[in-house]
Amino acid sequence: MSIHPVAGRARVTLGALAAKKAAGEKIVMVTAYDYPGAQIVDAAGVDIVLVGDSAAMTVLGYDSTVPVTVDEMIMLTAAVRRGLSTPLLVADLPFGSYEASDELAIATAQRFIKETGADAVKIERGGTTVDRARALVAAGIPVVGHVGLTPQTASSLGGYRAQGRTADSASRVIEDALALQDAGCSLLVVEAVPSAVTSVLMAQMGIPVIGIGAGADADGQVLVFHDLLGIYDGGAARFVKRYAEVRGAMVAGVSSYASEVRSRVYPAAEHTYGMPAEEAERLAALFAGRAGGARSVG
Ligand code: KIV
Repeated sequence: MSIHPVAGRARVTLGALAAKKAAGEKIVMVTAYDYPGAQIVDAAGVDIVLVGDSAAMTVLGYDSTVPVTVDEMIMLTAAVRRGLSTPLLVADLPFGSYEASDELAIATAQRFIKETGADAVKIERGGTTVDRARALVAAGIPVVGHVGLTPQTASSLGGYRAQGRTADSASRVIEDALALQDAGCSLLVVEAVPSAVTSVLMAQMGIPVIGIGAGADADGQVLVFHDLLGIYDGGAARFVKRYAEVRGAMVAGVSSYASEVRSRVYPAAEHTYGMPAEEAERLAALFAGRAGGARSVG
């Protein structure tokens, strides 16, 4: 077990997560997308940090997860790595970066592991993704599966809506989960399914299962950083619980700054660098003979 010198906490490993599951201890996972966000979730002592491709929407302003690129996700994941001490770091492989072949999946995942220091990669869906998962595991790359609502292919699922609401649809979710487990995945995320589906799933799974909108039976929970902290205005999915209203505090802070600049309250003396009086006098004398008047630009 390696102990982080600063935090004094043990690094979270896949083995430690399996042990938590065996002991019935809940696992806490949250997304992060940058260095300060990583430092915040690290200080809060979470177990797993996911650089989700939800970054496409939360920090890059796209209207779905589909457009985000490997290069964008690598930059964000590397920044998160620099802000973490002990949590396990998982990176989402973006849409289009792994599905077409085992070779593509391995090449993309190796970039994430080498260039960002991620501990594992997450890929979505069952079907052909199961083969990709098997190939990645064989290449020595830990894999997290993701079933239920899979945002990268939300349009083929009828949009961002709960999955598994009929026995047939639920059994497809569970079969996908079992296939990913058999392929060697170390963890599974299950998103937006009824709790009755999760409870059947849990009786079948040996690997830790992390739920999001999947009820209370999963081994752990994951939420999106911006959702749980209230960084966004407006609505969120049914499963989101807001634990803070950070947006309001941020808007208020920037508004106060704007108002103090305009009213000349900021910067005050305590925010201003001093200069010895004789140096200030000498400087004034150096420029005293020069033509006055502010330079005009343009
Ligand atoms: O991209 C993401 O943030 C995710 C979580 C919602 C699980 O996949």
